[in-house]
Amino acid sequence: MSRHNFPLRMGPGAAFETVRNFLREADFTDTFLRAHFQIPGLYTFLYSVGVQGEHIRRHYSHPATAVLLARLLIEGQPFTGQELSAKLPESFLDALKDLGLLERCRTGWQCPVLLMPPMGFWVASDRGARPGANVYQEGDYVMSGVERVCWDYASRISMRPCRKFLDMGTGSGLGALLGSRCAEDVYGIDITDRAVQFASFNRALNGIENLTFLQGDMFAPVAGMQFDRITANLPFEPPLKKNLIFSVGGEDGEAIIHRFVSEVAPFLAPGGRVFALVLGTDRESGDFEDRIRQWLGAAASECDVALLVTQKFSPVEYATQQIIGEGEGLWKAHEWDAFYRKLDARQVVLAHLLIQKRATERPVFFTRRDFGPLTGLAEMEWLLDWETFIREPGFEELLLATVAEPTSDWELLVRHALREGALKAQSYTFVKKHPFAVELEAPPWMGMLASSCDGKKTVGELCQSFTAKGLSREQFLAGATALFSADVLRMNGHAPPSSGV
Ligand SMILES: C[S@@+](CC[C@H](N)C(=O)[O-])C[C@H]1O[C@@H](n2cnc3c(N)ncnc32)[C@H](O)[C@@H]1O
Repeated sequence: MSRHNFPLRMGPGAAFETVRNFLREADFTDTFLRAHFQIPGLYTFLYSVGVQGEHIRRHYSHPATAVLLARLLIEGQPFTGQELSAKLPESFLDALKDLGLLERCRTGWQCPVLLMPPMGFWVASDRGARPGANVYQEGDYVMSGVERVCWDYASRISMRPCRKFLDMGTGSGLGALLGSRCAEDVYGIDITDRAVQFASFNRALNGIENLTFLQGDMFAPVAGMQFDRITANLPFEPPLKKNLIFSVGGEDGEAIIHRFVSEVAPFLAPGGRVFALVLGTDRESGDFEDRIRQWLGAAASECDVALLVTQKFSPVEYATQQIIGEGEGLWKAHEWDAFYRKLDARQVVLAHLLIQKRATERPVFFTRRDFGPLTGLAEMEWLLDWETFIREPGFEELLLATVAEPTSDWELLVRHALREGALKAQSYTFVKKHPFAVELEAPPWMGMLASSCDGKKTVGELCQSFTAKGLSREQFLAGATALFSADVLRMNGHAPPSSGV
């Protein structure tokens, strides 16, 4: 693992403060840059070639200092000393030089790394391959955390207050920086020395005290510790891509996630939660979540698992995207085809994996849901809270006393078929898009239950009338709970976040 060419310098402390203060004053923030460059996210800068590159360059001429900073620190453009001194204070330029953020190049001065302003922080990392820009392409390349997939990860990290927080495979440290806003004591671990150097630099650049970065393999550096929250965006790509430490997840792409899941339970405090971004396959031999549960081993009896799928691809679709993204020829397609055939993969899924260690003696849950168009972090947390709540002692009494409030954004699809000369209903499916995209196949009485909830009758009263018609109490309670879990019915105080529509 090379450390020979880490380009930045740790200090002096006052230089960090000078840089931070000026970047803030100049409004070098994601809000300003997104509005000025009219881009959906900072990740657009990472792929600023072709049409996207032209779009960004069209906004270069604006006199705002933050635009010059974007060209210098994000785009990596060289400027002469005169050009820089005309717009930027000498104290700021000296501080950039002290920290290694500005170095001499053939035509003047250049920033040797990428410096992005995500989520109210400033984050230095390696610069992606770009014509004319300084690049670093060794195996221990450090990502910035604003890449599209990393952004999904970072923006769905829980910000609820907690005591101890760990970001595993921290890279530039963005997940851990976020943790420092909600936790008392935060750790970030990465296997590469280069990532820990960048992350430690970023900690100092942002002036954060409650954060420690450690180098090591998986949980080794925090042996014996327990955390209330563990976040992870570890490598998960199949080994058909360039073998960079940040991207490839071992032999079948799932090997590093497998290790993480099988080792994580002892490091979770009771009630502690994992928020991880994962990629894996549904296979003929079993779906992704089945393997995840097996990887937990004996800890599966004390851990809840929720796999929340954000995107699904056919193996061919995923392979094609990767081949195009890597600029490889179509000759590579047969290798991908052979890879997925060997795994017997039906589908590739990108998902948030949530694991929770139960805090009390109760049955654990194991669920898989699909994201709807408006699903986000609030819905993910609601799901964990709700599924926990319905397994706690006393839930049944609460449910029976509840006046069920019906929601209105669901449909019940009835599939008919011709049987013995007559059109007969064959199946009933509740369809919802929020909080999760649900297709809940149900017996007809559940349709009648949903339509009988008028916001006046208690679930206990409905239970009496349905059991009087021959349904068992257990069947009724399981069916009613499924309707609450899908948000067809609501319990006062336990509604999911509003979809805003
Ligand atoms: C996909 S990158 C993500 C970086 C960062 N979490 C983010 O979202 O931008 C994965 C990171 O995991 C680190 N990593 C890979 N294997 C690891 C291991 N066994 N233990 C700790 N970190 C590891 C890599 O060095 C890399 O920085």
